[in-house]
Amino acid sequence: MRWPAKRITESSKKSFGMYEKAMPLMARGVDLIHLEVGRPNFDTPQHIKEATKKALDDGIVHYGDFRGELKFRQALAAKLNHSNGIGVDSDEVLVVNGLTHGVYTACMAGLNPGDEAILLEPYYPQHVNKIELAGARVVAVPLDKERGFRIDAAAIERAVTPNTRMIVLVNPANPTGRVFSRTELEQLAAVAIEHDLLVLSDEVYEQIVFDDNRHISIASLPGMRQRTITMFAFTKAYAMDGWRMGYIAAPRDFMPALLKITMNDVAHVNVFIQEGGYAAVTQSQDCIAAMVAEDQRRRDLAVRRLNAMPLVRCAVPEGSIYTFPDISATGQNSADIADEILQRCRVVVETSTFYGANSTDNLRICFGAEPYERIEEAMNRLEQYFIDKASA
Ligand SMILES: Cc1ncc(COP(=O)(O)O)c(C=O)c1O
Repeated sequence: MRWPAKRITESSKKSFGMYEKAMPLMARGVDLIHLEVGRPNFDTPQHIKEATKKALDDGIVHYGDFRGELKFRQALAAKLNHSNGIGVDSDEVLVVNGLTHGVYTACMAGLNPGDEAILLEPYYPQHVNKIELAGARVVAVPLDKERGFRIDAAAIERAVTPNTRMIVLVNPANPTGRVFSRTELEQLAAVAIEHDLLVLSDEVYEQIVFDDNRHISIASLPGMRQRTITMFAFTKAYAMDGWRMGYIAAPRDFMPALLKITMNDVAHVNVFIQEGGYAAVTQSQDCIAAMVAEDQRRRDLAVRRLNAMPLVRCAVPEGSIYTFPDISATGQNSADIADEILQRCRVVVETSTFYGANSTDNLRICFGAEPYERIEEAMNRLEQYFIDKASA
């Protein structure tokens, strides 16, 4: 029987990147250093676990509010107001199963078949699938590579057609590690307002910001709150990737459409993990500071070591858990380099082509996924690889 493979295109098929290539080696028991998957290398803080265990013991096990528990949404609305400058109340917050589910919900609710959604390349590839499942088309617009992957508002404006409905922003950015400045966000906002476009803002790395950089939510800029759907998750900052919990902040008018999707695909998020989320947002945030400090130590190690290698140039990431070193001096496509590194070094790094077909010059290296010592070992192996390549 012919399987009705709905809206599966070439771009939606390649969902697992270098991890997929590493799988046969993993199955043979080869010890690989994984710098490709963006999984936090910390345990979930104890007070969050305790609150969740207590919720189970207290019998919080039954159906809940479809939008998320009221006290949780109220706490999230307070956080959105004071930390993000997004003036929402609890009715404009929707609890979802992680940022993945948030983006799926927003795409299904916000895009019609035939619409176009602009992604800034290099982009987070999992967003492609959701846009295509909604029947819309991805239009990739390059970030300004020569200026450190800045937002290029003029290029975005040139890509706008009568079918354009949405611009997808990831800030702090994956894979580049940029934290977009107020000026860049204002320029993007001006295009969105001028052409009456929705902005879907993925802010999963909002708390992982280094040095004196500051994360700004685009929905806090004048004229943007009413056209922005902002996505957050507990995934990265609280090391809760397996819990599957996040939230959407959106204008009141969008809520019925968003809720129509979530009520039908998951009904609502697991009630007792929401108690863990409530503890996360209402109790001390010191746990985040401790994890970010360790991420920064690993970032500094990776950047220092990469920049000392021949054929490699590495900008300092301002946020996220990724470096995006330029390896164009090798004269080879990044996909070939990532393959060679896997085979020769037993280190898994991601090729930049995973983040858009035109991005051939970089590797994405996650410094947040392995302990410091393993990153050091990976850097030793990469150094030898690039020394050999330079002298070949
Ligand atoms: C930019 C970006 N968005 C979304 C996600 C997925 O987040 P979640 O696990 O909360 O679904 C990731 C995970 O790596 C990411 O990097």
